[in-house]
Amino acid sequence: MSPVERLDPQNPKQQLESARKAFEQEFERFARFADASAQMCLSLAEGETELQALRDLRTRFLGKKSALAAAKKSIGRVAPDERAAFGQLVQATEAKTIETLEQAEQNLSRRLEALRIEHDRLDVTLPGRRPRLGHRHPITLLRERIEDIFVGLGYVIEDDREIETDFYNFDALNIPQNHPARAEQDTFYTTDGFALRSQTSTVQIHAMQRRGAPVRMIAPGRVFRRDTPDPTHNPMFFQVEGLCVEEGITMAHLKGTVAEFLRRMFGPKTVTRFRPSYFPFTEPSAEFDFSCFKCAGQGCRICKYSGWIELGGSGMVHPNVLRAVDVDPDRFSGFAFGLGIDRMCSLMYGLDDIRLLFENDVRFLSQFS
Ligand code: FA5
Repeated sequence: MSPVERLDPQNPKQQLESARKAFEQEFERFARFADASAQMCLSLAEGETELQALRDLRTRFLGKKSALAAAKKSIGRVAPDERAAFGQLVQATEAKTIETLEQAEQNLSRRLEALRIEHDRLDVTLPGRRPRLGHRHPITLLRERIEDIFVGLGYVIEDDREIETDFYNFDALNIPQNHPARAEQDTFYTTDGFALRSQTSTVQIHAMQRRGAPVRMIAPGRVFRRDTPDPTHNPMFFQVEGLCVEEGITMAHLKGTVAEFLRRMFGPKTVTRFRPSYFPFTEPSAEFDFSCFKCAGQGCRICKYSGWIELGGSGMVHPNVLRAVDVDPDRFSGFAFGLGIDRMCSLMYGLDDIRLLFENDVRFLSQFS
């Protein structure tokens, strides 16, 4: 029941007194806010609710429909000899109510402000939460090192498609239909005549078609073969191809370039050796090894106690390959080489199993940051 409804409209004095008492009663729960120095145990949410309740109390006791407002209007109805005293009483009651409410509201607002500051406080001295940064995959790190060395030797980096036609993967590389080299590099075929490239040598063909001769490029990239996974084989792995076609290029340039690359990669004392080999797209062909970076040729677990590490294939570009891309083999000659990045990576880090590189186990990969 509101304080206005409870009162007798014919008796303004009683009306005023009842309103004053009702206010005192209701204000009791807010009395703890009357004293500015009193300790308040209050949460921010509680404080906000209490402040709203105090404002409601003000509306009910001082608003237009309050008992005090009614008392003010009834001053005229009081007997003339009591009117002045009654008027003063109304004013005093109103002033006291306003003062009490304002005091409590002010103290509560101050306390709330302090609570808000405490709530929003940011302790800049707290230790930060370090974001967990990833890092590049060991194969990427190695690929970038290889790229840096060849860019330093004047080579451009070519990137090309991983899905190829027979022409680029085999025919243009002097591997005709039914050639046994196709079986060695058996790959994954699609139903519409395409296949996943089995070697990055395909990029030689694209690069020469695009750039003609002279050309000096390397092509790092992903290749695919129908190889059963084992500690040294994966059906998907990375190679880097190198090609240099200019006038007057000889085997000496090939040997010098590969030897310089390996010296920059593994140190100035690295020794390179070439062994005769066969690739359909190079003639003559050679595989190249380098002296073990771990034992410097003395023999250790990494080089299987031979002192040498096999790295890749190479040779002088076959004239048929140059003809396939309309480069005149009587004017231009060149060398090419290719090596497997995954095997190089596993050798460098002493991995027992090349498959670890693709298992994506963070505990393993995080060692290479
Ligand atoms: C080739 O692929 C030739 N295209 C290289 C070449 C280029 C020769 C230019 C001459 C001129 P080969 O099949 O040997 O060659 O593969 C090259 C390297 O790929 C190997 O030395 C080895 O390091 C790596 N390799 C081959 N098969 C796999 C496999 N299944 N998993 C991981 N690495 C492999």
